[in-house]
Amino acid sequence: MEQDRDTSARPPAPHIVVLGSLNMDLVLRVATAPVAGETCVGRSISAVPGGKGANQAVSCARQGARVLMIGCVGDDDHGRAMRDALARDGIDTSALRTDTTLPTGTALILVEDNGQNRIVIIGGANGGLQLDASELRAQLAGAAFLVTQFESPMAQVELAIMAAHEAGCPVLLNPSPVQPIAEALWPMIDTLVLNEVEAHALTGLSADAPEQAAAAGRALHARGVRRVVVTLGAQGAVAIDAAGERHHPAPAVRAVDTTAAGDTFLGALATELASGASLDDAVRQGIRAGALCVQQAGAQPSIPRREAVLRSAPLPHLSLLPSDWTRP
Ligand code: RIB
Repeated sequence: MEQDRDTSARPPAPHIVVLGSLNMDLVLRVATAPVAGETCVGRSISAVPGGKGANQAVSCARQGARVLMIGCVGDDDHGRAMRDALARDGIDTSALRTDTTLPTGTALILVEDNGQNRIVIIGGANGGLQLDASELRAQLAGAAFLVTQFESPMAQVELAIMAAHEAGCPVLLNPSPVQPIAEALWPMIDTLVLNEVEAHALTGLSADAPEQAAAAGRALHARGVRRVVVTLGAQGAVAIDAAGERHHPAPAVRAVDTTAAGDTFLGALATELASGASLDDAVRQGIRAGALCVQQAGAQPSIPRREAVLRSAPLPHLSLLPSDWTRP
């Protein structure tokens, strides 16, 4: 029977470089989101540090990694608040640029009483990110991973993936918000972490149950990615690599706000992999971290520390997917 690995003792903090977005999240809590033409009265409004890149950097740091964040904010109060938030988590912000012509990125997030959200992003200064390839190569030297997503300009993300590949730094990509990926980039991706919607968009295959997610993940693995993880929210996640497909269920929890659950999962997964864990152990740590995240409100305030994850209930055991059944 599969047991949770003892992840409490481990080697020195791995170094992870995160390239991505920083957004101030304007969070509106509502009973249910209004339909077109409807006006509804909300419960509260708050401004909370977020952005997929920044959230993933915070998650890596709270899981014990040494993190360098590369991104761009505006010369405004939100930008300063975003920098301060990262610095409070011990994240190196020396590679954060300030764009004096664009406002810091903003996300408008509607969160319903059932914890589900709807997000609209105005990229602002995230769109002003300009990388210098030689500087980037120096920043990636010795890093266990380059973690990146698609909330930064695509040309910059592609440049970063190619620089990491040349420098021998494994790339962990979260293709969110989903966009097509150039054919030449696929073999440069070490680990692809995506949700069921993104998996469907990239493969055309339905991926909203473990067996289907495994088939979609296999199709992505066949494009040259070494490891694929498809997250399924309350259904856990499916891990796909050369050894096959495994489904890891999630614990049943009451979701207050699902914002940043995927980012929390990814940060925990990245830090565990960078510390030498197996893909399955890393996925399980990510699921436990994500389950804690959804029980708290807000993006960065809800990302748990490693100690809290280790104190949380162990997971149910993984099920090996019946590969005959899932092969097309
Ligand atoms: O993944 C959650 C994040 O998506 C939010 O914090 C928001 O800023 C958007 O980037």
